[in-house]
Amino acid sequence: MIIEESKMRGVRFVVFLLFALNTVSFCFADNVTYDHRALVINGKRRVLVSGSIHYPRSTPDMWPDLIQKSKQGGLDVIETYVFWNLHEPVRGQYNFEGRNDLVKFVKLVGEAGLYVHLRIGPYVCAEWNYGGFPIWLHFIPGIVLRSDNEPFKAEMQRFTAKIVDMMKQENLYASQGGPIILSQIENEYGNIDSAYPSAKTYIKWAAEMATSLDTGVPWVMCQQSDAPDPIINTCNGFYCDQFTPNSDKKPKMWTENWSGWFSAFGDAVPYRPVEDIAFAVARFYQLGGTFQNYYMYHGGTNFGRTSGGPFITTTYDYDAPIDEYGLVRQPKWGHLKDVHKAIKLCEEAMLATDPKTTSLGSNMEATVYKTESGLCSAFLANWDTKTDATVNFNGNSYHLPAWSVNILPDCKNVVLNTAKINSVTAISKFISQPSKDDPSSSGASLSGWSWINEPVGISSQSAFTKTGLLEQINTTADKSDYMWYSISIEMNGNEHILKEGSGTVLHIDSLGHTLYAFINGKLIGSGKGSNGNRKVSIEVPVTLIKGSNKIDLLSLTVGLQNYGAYFDTLGAGITGPVLLKGSQNGSTIDLSSRKWTYQVGLRGEELDLSSGSTSLWVSQPALPTNQPLIWYKTTFDAPTGSSPVAIDFTGMGKGQAWVNGQSIGRYWPANKASNGGCVDSCNYRGSYSSNKCLRNCGKPSQRLYHVPRSWLQPSGNVLVLFEETGGNPKQISFATREVESLCSRISENHPLPVDMWTSDEEARKKAGPTLSLECPHPDQVITSIKFASFGTPRGTCGSFSHGQCSSKQALPVIQKACIGSRSCSIGVSINKFGDPCKGVTKSLAVEASCV
Ligand code: GAL
Repeated sequence: MIIEESKMRGVRFVVFLLFALNTVSFCFADNVTYDHRALVINGKRRVLVSGSIHYPRSTPDMWPDLIQKSKQGGLDVIETYVFWNLHEPVRGQYNFEGRNDLVKFVKLVGEAGLYVHLRIGPYVCAEWNYGGFPIWLHFIPGIVLRSDNEPFKAEMQRFTAKIVDMMKQENLYASQGGPIILSQIENEYGNIDSAYPSAKTYIKWAAEMATSLDTGVPWVMCQQSDAPDPIINTCNGFYCDQFTPNSDKKPKMWTENWSGWFSAFGDAVPYRPVEDIAFAVARFYQLGGTFQNYYMYHGGTNFGRTSGGPFITTTYDYDAPIDEYGLVRQPKWGHLKDVHKAIKLCEEAMLATDPKTTSLGSNMEATVYKTESGLCSAFLANWDTKTDATVNFNGNSYHLPAWSVNILPDCKNVVLNTAKINSVTAISKFISQPSKDDPSSSGASLSGWSWINEPVGISSQSAFTKTGLLEQINTTADKSDYMWYSISIEMNGNEHILKEGSGTVLHIDSLGHTLYAFINGKLIGSGKGSNGNRKVSIEVPVTLIKGSNKIDLLSLTVGLQNYGAYFDTLGAGITGPVLLKGSQNGSTIDLSSRKWTYQVGLRGEELDLSSGSTSLWVSQPALPTNQPLIWYKTTFDAPTGSSPVAIDFTGMGKGQAWVNGQSIGRYWPANKASNGGCVDSCNYRGSYSSNKCLRNCGKPSQRLYHVPRSWLQPSGNVLVLFEETGGNPKQISFATREVESLCSRISENHPLPVDMWTSDEEARKKAGPTLSLECPHPDQVITSIKFASFGTPRGTCGSFSHGQCSSKQALPVIQKACIGSRSCSIGVSINKFGDPCKGVTKSLAVEASCV
């Protein structure tokens, strides 16, 4: 008996082991191929939804949560670029630590049961410094980047092979049992390749090189219509429904569906309405697409000096479904989750056959996926930008709002309309943390400030003198944003330009990106470029003195160019001319070809002030404010709780900031967006473009800067700033990112929530449209209902008001159903609330808060 029992245990253990192995994904090799419809994994075509998360734009601490939120949002795949200049800052010296830990990131995605699309590039664009290229490439003799050039190809191949080998060694390709099902080589070269005479040969070489690395999974090239077989050419854009690959053996894939857009210092902040994204996604799957990727799903933060541009902001929020701080952005995240579920309900039919599209009238069409075995799914689209329609399809009538798609998993019942949102809306806010002086404060507190002046002009032993004006990137090799151009000129006292009323000006032409001009130690003028035009020219009145006059020009880069043909050769800095211009003929002095003294970087950088150590910090006498070129330091306690933290740099000009020695990026609240072009509410109907929907006009492009929680300790954190133009650090404050309210608004003619999908007509009628609320955190409950109205409520989340008709019962019914629970669902019907206005289509609108 005893032997039998232990045998049984053994059997149970083996059964358990088999079960366990089966549930842990990626233990067995997957065979990934493709055909004209889809990627084929282990012999099965797949409809896949993917989203971009760039690992260095968040911290390893944030990765698991971001990946979970992606999975919950309905993603199957996480896409990331590989950032060459992070991994190989010096040729042959690699860094895969911390935020650069690519292997860890890929493994975490795999452990969550998701696939990876690894876009190695190694040119990546991505609003990333120099498009991801290490600057040392630029200094290799004879190199021509992104072309059929031996020195470049050797480096590109070496790095690509290095990454592929690393992944192979860790068994991370699907062919080895890992999560990587796809890889990309190059990036949108087709957009600019006409400028490169050797483009065709280069692309052929890149394709062969990539294929020869034998990853066992397919390669793609995006925006490359001539991508050689077997590489799949894919589409990037706001819409890709009209795209077709370059062979009828390749599937229709969308590698970048821009979920919003990046922001630049000096520009307003773009956003993209979710109704339009949902429309674009549904249209793509409607017309035969089977793989699409949100660029970005989580945009994150350009920490340090990683942002490109020039002038890309430190935030890379992108209006993505997960915000910069890692909170889901609602209703964007939730509505797209519903769209993914709706599309997955059609997956079987979509993959079993090719789509058949017929017209439903002007600007309308129906696509049907129908198999002989009786599977049938359909998409009905109306791309008219104004007119809602009622269409007839298969003998039934359907309401089809303008710029929307109805999804019918059974070719009869609508599970989702892209313009009708069932998801909750959330208002996320930055809550200012009161200062320490406030006795009720439990938030962050800054203690006293100390400072160190940064000298104007040359202060380093490493300064050097050269005749003529030097290009900046060739000189700094991007070791620093800063470069001094200094010169002294002697005036004997008789020059016309010295005379009072002579109208003398200092004229400077620079390739960019920002410059400050000092004469005899005083800031006399400054200039800045913009994302659209990086060049700077200034002309400022000067007063010169008899004797020696010191001219110190501080030139700055604000992230190196990342896009365009030959972007790597654009250059920066004061290449001239530099003139002292007098009003009288012949009085102008051209300083361009004189002897200049140069210094790369600041003294404070040489002294490593960013770490906060050194004994040079002073705190007496009074704190200097509004003074250019000054380092500030303080210590602070972290805001209590676990909400994400930001520093509000209101009151400061431009500079860089570090928390406990970690660079949180460039700050520039003084750079404001112009006043025009913003819209209060953006009409999602009609083609989106990056300047269609803008916010923040007249305000700083970026005021708040993310400080990852994992960089903070409860108290004694060190904040160091380098301020370039002058500000008052006492105005700096902390904020935490919190969800303030949840809202939902559902009408009587909304489809049922996707989760309640059933093709049983009776059951659907019984259930009817339903309003659901859920607090974001599992340990929260709904504590109050701020607003509830059933009838014709007006306004949007945060500003709802009762309309002409409203039921008295709405508030008590909702309170009863929701208060004290994490989530609640209420049918939107007159059975629940009575009928306050017969014959009118009514809606239920609710605003609630969670604690
Ligand atoms: C694409 C590029 C991406 C990114 C995007 C804009 O053209 O492939 O890397 O730069 O534009 O955010």
